[in-house]
Amino acid sequence: MRSSVSKSETTQGLLFPCAYNTFQTEGIKYAGSKKKLIGEIIDVVSPLRVKRVWDAFSGTTRVSQAFAQNGYDVISSDISIWSQCFASCYLLSKRDREYYVPLFDHLNNLQPIDGWYSENYGSILSESEGGIKRPWQLKNTRKLDAIREELDKLDLSPIDKNVALTGLILALDKVDSTLGHYVSYLKEWADRSYNDLFLDVPRILRTRGDHQVLIGDVFDLLPHVQTDLAYLDPPYGSNNEKMPPSRIRYSSYYHIWTTIILNDKPKLFGKANRRLDSSDTLSSSVFEEFRKNEKTTRYIALEAIEKLIRNINAEYVLLSYSTTGRATFEQLMDILSESGKLIGIKSIDYRRHIMSEMKWTNKWVSDCPTENKELLFLLKK
Ligand SMILES: C[S@@+](CC[C@H](N)C(=O)[O-])C[C@H]1O[C@@H](n2cnc3c(N)ncnc32)[C@H](O)[C@@H]1O
Repeated sequence: MRSSVSKSETTQGLLFPCAYNTFQTEGIKYAGSKKKLIGEIIDVVSPLRVKRVWDAFSGTTRVSQAFAQNGYDVISSDISIWSQCFASCYLLSKRDREYYVPLFDHLNNLQPIDGWYSENYGSILSESEGGIKRPWQLKNTRKLDAIREELDKLDLSPIDKNVALTGLILALDKVDSTLGHYVSYLKEWADRSYNDLFLDVPRILRTRGDHQVLIGDVFDLLPHVQTDLAYLDPPYGSNNEKMPPSRIRYSSYYHIWTTIILNDKPKLFGKANRRLDSSDTLSSSVFEEFRKNEKTTRYIALEAIEKLIRNINAEYVLLSYSTTGRATFEQLMDILSESGKLIGIKSIDYRRHIMSEMKWTNKWVSDCPTENKELLFLLKK
């Protein structure tokens, strides 16, 4: 799927082709999605002698999909059930698209019904029209009610069910009335919410690699995974202590996908009707922690990254990090220089449309403007 290879540069004996690649990946709107960074990631990894890669915070699975399309054996894992569902669909299904067409036709033609999803997530009127804020228009939650009920009745294999659920979630994501998460909804209907829910068969990859899909906290999976390269894209704990609510909590942002996959009709709370087990007190990840460790004065999330890199069973680690402040960047550099040999750093500035730069010397670190950049750190352990 590479579109072009424009130039190459050799540094410290490694060849990094600076290619601008395109990859066909699919995914929902997702905070921290690496959709725009995929070509850069593959560029960094492709010159290395690696076969097995672990995408340990796989989220939308776009990066896992790209690795699979580039011939790697992929281990895709995340703490979230939606990520497991997507990875199972894209990496594990061996069926061709045609196989799923009758199933998707059947689901698209079901008679809409009023059910639990319509009651809790659908509305005819937007808030500005006198209704309540909801993520979907009622006509679409009625379809969701019918489809989700039917999926539990059909005798589908776990992988085929994940293909159908992925198609359902992608379709719902296209007609939502949100800013891309499910902790608050828009006052006025988004234009796209007027469209009818329609399920397309996902772009199943059917790649040759020997792929594995896991679910769990990365620290629990750590002892069981051996890989050539680990790609780490943890949540970015906000380093703005005055604004702790700005932190992203994935389980609450995307609670609705958990509910649709489990179809467990959980107890709900708050204005957004979040599932109870997605409340901040019940669910959190150490990587989403914004505070500092009082003893070490370092950010708790950064200490977790250090622990992870130290204990990971991989020859190479590629770490994605988006930083909004100098302090975080300097602490991160301290951690990385102690956890392995830092081979290179790539920084990408979307706002200014600068594609990327790869730097190799420590001098660069003191020169580096770090505001609002996406950074890729390559380490050899
Ligand atoms: C920045 S996002 C990853 C985005 C992904 N690379 C993509 O392109 O879609 C961070 C991910 O880390 C996951 N996560 C958070 N805490 C975790 C933990 N302790 N163990 C494993 N995954 C975790 C979240 O569910 C989320 O999907």
